[in-house]
Amino acid sequence: MKAYIVASGGVFRGTIRVPGDKSITHRALIMGALIAKDPKFRLHNWLQSLDCIATLNALQAMGVEAEQINEYSVEISCVGLYGLQKPGKILDVGNSGTAMRLLTGVLAAQKFSSVITGDTSLRKRPMRRLIEPLMQMGASINAVDHQYAPLRIQGNQQLQSINYELPIPSAQIKSAILLADLYACGNSTITELQVCRNHTEIMLHALGRGSTDIFIPGDISSAAFFIVGATIAPNSHLTIKNVGINPTRTGIIQILRLMGANIVIQHQRESNGELSADLVVSYARLKGITVPINLVPNAIDELPVLLLAAACATGITVIRGAEELRYKESDRIAVMAQGLTDLGIKVIVLADGLAVEGGQIIGGKVESAGDHRIAMTFAMAALVAQQEIIIQDTHHVATSFPNFAAVAEEAGLLICEESVYV
Ligand code: S3P
Repeated sequence: MKAYIVASGGVFRGTIRVPGDKSITHRALIMGALIAKDPKFRLHNWLQSLDCIATLNALQAMGVEAEQINEYSVEISCVGLYGLQKPGKILDVGNSGTAMRLLTGVLAAQKFSSVITGDTSLRKRPMRRLIEPLMQMGASINAVDHQYAPLRIQGNQQLQSINYELPIPSAQIKSAILLADLYACGNSTITELQVCRNHTEIMLHALGRGSTDIFIPGDISSAAFFIVGATIAPNSHLTIKNVGINPTRTGIIQILRLMGANIVIQHQRESNGELSADLVVSYARLKGITVPINLVPNAIDELPVLLLAAACATGITVIRGAEELRYKESDRIAVMAQGLTDLGIKVIVLADGLAVEGGQIIGGKVESAGDHRIAMTFAMAALVAQQEIIIQDTHHVATSFPNFAAVAEEAGLLICEESVYV
């Protein structure tokens, strides 16, 4: 077991980079292998985390070849839409919901049958939301209690297109349908009541235009820990280079600005249809707000660290419309409420969110429930804590941000990673 011991205090200054975007990396791996125009394509700045490696391993088990060509880039073979081979084993995607849901969309359309599973956390996460539309398209998928992985996917089903209104703003469901639709008769229409991340649509266009070199921007979900850290730690002034700022992902910047944050977006550029920029973040006094519900889906993965910002703001911050947080790598409403309470902050748990009263973070031990984003959030809390913070069970940070402790130390966090259980 791993743990972080983070001494209280610290100031964020200088310039850092965060690793490549997780959502885009998953899509580039899967979609490049299926629809890239050349026999080989290259992913630069791909996220080499456990989640994305799980997707790559699953593709390799189906005959896709990959060669790491330098520290940041990998070359992948494009086998074509009908070139995947039956895997000789159960596909185990570990902790990654994105890998499971996107790959299921592809597997549902193959000539061969397959089984996809994950770790204990992933086997408890809802899959009916995905199975239902895919079955409506003609897929045959068996799940535990019609809901949970392992998913047993029957091959040789001819898929039909679908007209589908997404009941929840989930890019994973949308993407699974879009990937299955590549094999379906007819054209599907998906209606979103609330817009969610559109990386699949962008990647479809990029690969359709014949892009063979995909440059992946830094992950705004990883940058979010540093955006909040620099905002709450007095005297901070931090530049985060090359962060993806796709408008379906920038809810965190919009919400923090409403709270009074000082975030400057510089050197905006575009690559393969995805926007990126450098972010310059300076310390600011935050005020509590009621977070506009329409911004919640575009900040869904950043809500844990936003709750930390709320704990440092004056007054009360209310986040609602965030029930989806209960179905992530942990029940993020319950785990964040417990952790903030343990650190001395007053919270009220709501069915679909939390109300947080800004106050003094004391410090002490907190549980991350094996959830990477919660572990990183509480590490940042030490910046403003009276005493050190010990975060237990941090090994899952490697699912999205393997070098988090090193980047955090470089930024100015007084963090130490221990390999023993505390
Ligand atoms: C993701 C979509 C979101 C997000 C997840 C990554 C994606 O999940 O929470 O971390 O890459 O499509 P949902 O689509 O289930 O909301």
